[in-house]
Amino acid sequence: MTKKELQETAEYLKSKGFENPEVGIVLGTGLGKLVDEIKNPIVAHYNHIPFFPLATVEFHSGKLIYGEIEGKKVVVMQGRFHLYEGYDLVDVTYPIRAMRELGIKKLLISNAAGSINLDLKKGDLMLIEDHINLQGGSPLAFKDVGQFGERFVDMSEPYDLEMRKTITEVADQKNIPLQKGVYVSVVGPQLETKAEYRYLKLIGADAVGMSTVPEVIVANHLNLPVAAISVITDEGDPDNLEPVDIQEIIRIAGEAEPKMITLFKELIKTI
Ligand code: HPA
Repeated sequence: MTKKELQETAEYLKSKGFENPEVGIVLGTGLGKLVDEIKNPIVAHYNHIPFFPLATVEFHSGKLIYGEIEGKKVVVMQGRFHLYEGYDLVDVTYPIRAMRELGIKKLLISNAAGSINLDLKKGDLMLIEDHINLQGGSPLAFKDVGQFGERFVDMSEPYDLEMRKTITEVADQKNIPLQKGVYVSVVGPQLETKAEYRYLKLIGADAVGMSTVPEVIVANHLNLPVAAISVITDEGDPDNLEPVDIQEIIRIAGEAEPKMITLFKELIKTI
């Protein structure tokens, strides 16, 4: 990744009409329906965007969509890049840097996650307050990082307090139950063993997933305020562990999705 490449990515998107988006949004597994709310959409397929990571066949549906939600200009990632698909952490976070290059001022992230804290049930929403990086690397560990910002990025409050407060208030007003907790990221794609669920609980995680943390680290690198919500799609109870079924995860995510869409839309109104 070079500065010039990022600029070319942004130029291409601007030439397609991606002008001055205010908010960037990353939609997680099974959480793509927010795109139906975008007014006057312009679509760019990841495969067509210069210097975007080369998508796998499996990933053909990935696209960046520009338009308006609640009167605000947004750019939405429908589908993200994961480490478990063979990308590296710089690839995985390239779209975040590209959206920042386009001018976004805030970033909203969603993901599907398994619960570690068993007070969190399938279908619950969890506002991420903090995280643990168990992906074995950093998206900032590359030679030229100094050209893009600080090397030693502060992570004392990685999730924006103001947006967290607003999301909490909106959830209250709309009667949407909202849990809060710590998200731990793993590489995947295999799910966790019973011993791993016990370990993740011991180290202080409430939910586990395979994304989000690299994106949040890069948002902090870019001084880009970020908020993230997990949709709990399965329960990692080591004493009653049921085999996880990815179709089931997608189904549960879809059921909980309207609550997440409401929170994001109401938050966007206030931005
Ligand atoms: N573990 C890891 N990633 C996940 C899970 C899980 O249980 N559920 C959804 N993504």
